[in-house]
Amino acid sequence: MDKYCVMGNPVEHSKSPWIHARFAELTGQRLRYDKQLVALDGFAHAVREFASHGGKGCNVTVPFKFESPALATRLSPRALLAQAANTLRFDDAGVFGDNTDGVGLVSDITANAGIDLRGRDVLLVGAGGAAAGVLGPLIEAVPRRVAVANRTLDKAQALIERHDALATQHRVELAASGLAVTGAFDVVVNATASSLAGAGVPVAGHVLKPGALAYDMMYGPAAQAFLAWARDNGGTPRDGLGMLVEQAAESFVVWRGVRPPAAQVLGELRAALA
Ligand code: ATR
Repeated sequence: MDKYCVMGNPVEHSKSPWIHARFAELTGQRLRYDKQLVALDGFAHAVREFASHGGKGCNVTVPFKFESPALATRLSPRALLAQAANTLRFDDAGVFGDNTDGVGLVSDITANAGIDLRGRDVLLVGAGGAAAGVLGPLIEAVPRRVAVANRTLDKAQALIERHDALATQHRVELAASGLAVTGAFDVVVNATASSLAGAGVPVAGHVLKPGALAYDMMYGPAAQAFLAWARDNGGTPRDGLGMLVEQAAESFVVWRGVRPPAAQVLGELRAALA
């Protein structure tokens, strides 16, 4: 049976084994998917071991996503832009590295939340690894503009410069700023670690147009401060559980060439967590 896993540290609470087992069941694919706790200095070794023992691919999570491109012999354009890979596939040609986080976010917003991003104004808060993983696919969804706001302005500027050619190609306006954001947006995505740090929401409530989608890439307790802020400021809150399932679905496609019913599995996962 083909073997896959998610490598991370910590990884104990990962929902990925459950999600991929359900995808396999629903698509009739025979595979096994486990979680693997990897020592902080042992990622390259763990990947080589897994591949040499018949592993077909793995997901990569905190803190290894930025190490994984160096292990790939080929990278997708979206992994190159993100400078991070959350999906590795071991095949005859070597190691293919991809990043499915951004597509996962965009699929959840468009397919599951039912919001057409075309022509919309989007604010991405944060310019770290999580933000870098999603900016390319957000641009490819052709909103009118994407503004990247970050506490450290230099990082937001560097991030938009890397995406300049893609934005020009899609005629999307890109801008960088600090956290004192002017204007209001249809969609606000929180890609900062501020709620984890207990620092609250780093932007003012006026960034939300009435009813704007306020999306936190996290789920569970880590997302609650942002979701409460969204409600208090007239926004429509949404956590990142759908992104988790949709990025998994895209990884499943990379490995198996078959698209699983992500919306159904998201519904089941929400019910199981309720
Ligand atoms: P991740 O991979 O989760 O994105 P990261 O690369 O360390 O982690 O990035 C963390 C992001 O959260 C950054 O945008 C960071 O802002 P800086 O670039 O200025 O460091 C942001 N962040 C973390 N704590 C924050 C806080 N208390 N207020 C505002 N932004 C914060």
